[in-house]
Amino acid sequence: MAYNFDEIIDRSHSDCLKYGVLDERWGRTDLLPLWVADMDFRTPNFIIDALRTRLEHEILGYTIPHPEWKDSIINWQQKRNGYTIKREELTFVPGIVRGIAFVLQSFTQPGDKVMVFSPVYHPFFLVTEDNGRDVVRFPLTLSEANHYEIDFNLLRQLLQGVKVLILSNPHNPGGRVWTLNELKHIAELCQDSGTLVISDEIHADLTLAPYHHVPFACVSETARQNSITFGSPSKAFNSPGIISSYVIVHNEAIRNKLKSYLAASELDEGNMFAQLVTVTAYTQGEEWLEQVKAYIADNIRFVEEYLQENIPQIRPMHTEASFLIYLNCRDLGLSHEQLLNLFIDKAHLALDDGRKFGEEGTGFMRLNVATPLSVLRQALNQLKDALKSTNYNNK
Ligand SMILES: Cc1ncc(COP(=O)(O)O)c(C=O)c1O
Repeated sequence: MAYNFDEIIDRSHSDCLKYGVLDERWGRTDLLPLWVADMDFRTPNFIIDALRTRLEHEILGYTIPHPEWKDSIINWQQKRNGYTIKREELTFVPGIVRGIAFVLQSFTQPGDKVMVFSPVYHPFFLVTEDNGRDVVRFPLTLSEANHYEIDFNLLRQLLQGVKVLILSNPHNPGGRVWTLNELKHIAELCQDSGTLVISDEIHADLTLAPYHHVPFACVSETARQNSITFGSPSKAFNSPGIISSYVIVHNEAIRNKLKSYLAASELDEGNMFAQLVTVTAYTQGEEWLEQVKAYIADNIRFVEEYLQENIPQIRPMHTEASFLIYLNCRDLGLSHEQLLNLFIDKAHLALDDGRKFGEEGTGFMRLNVATPLSVLRQALNQLKDALKSTNYNNK
């Protein structure tokens, strides 16, 4: 079956976050929203059908866990990533950001140090700060080639005294798929400093050719024993509103501690739809996933070529996984405020402010390309026209 990702679907009256907070957050509503990380594509038909079928039984009573939930994740991870997981190592969690908060609450005390790579998906900062832990910012190195790299000497230094590292693997917003060697090195340094690693692998299923996702726990026995991995079908199968995630812990002592924390407040139980969506995505979703990734890869290529041809001062970081492009706009020579003015008030676009992901993101904007190509073309045309008609004094 060929899926149609060119279809424009009106999301404006669906209580969707992407449209619903434009006024509140951007101060105007006449904007094309290309920000929060969900897709403008229809959630796959097999997922909608599975939910519909369940609703045909018109009693929404208490349910037992879906009997295929664990096997569907175990088989998917084995087949897609060569990642072997035992049944007892897998637990449901109601959302990954919440899961990270549960780990911080279980394994750290207020005032403890928690490291995040910066820039990074901003809730890593927020969940740490809001739980009263101290953020240790590890700045990623921006290479000449506009690519994020890790300065391992600096990492070794900054890891001293850090209790937990929260890793986005692959990396949002930089789009990096961390390599086996990079992950191995991180694992060794964290072992030396006594730092527990949280590997957030929510974007893994969207790793684009020719890159390959490496699960953190697979890089060495050290990594396997000193990590907690989160996964979810929500990004790849456009279903984040369902809230269905899982946590994998191989180390028995760490697992028992986290499991008792979760069980004490019944945080390890989903609703009847959550596990159904995971089972359906992971047992029926491969063909859809390959097609959506091909469409996303084409959109990324389109943006890269368009910018090179029309706005070469904006350099997109090459996205190795997922549907987000971190745009390096520094060569425009604008202050960050002027950059926001250009995108919002002149081009009428709502992208994520690059600085939201850490101060290293100054001069960057994050573009979501999981949208029909026609929308993307329109957005870039608006940007090109805005730039042409705008004169900033310091340009
Ligand atoms: C790296 C990363 N982790 C977690 C999330 C959100 O996960 P959840 O909705 O399960 O909390 C996102 C969403 O964009 C993300 O990019």
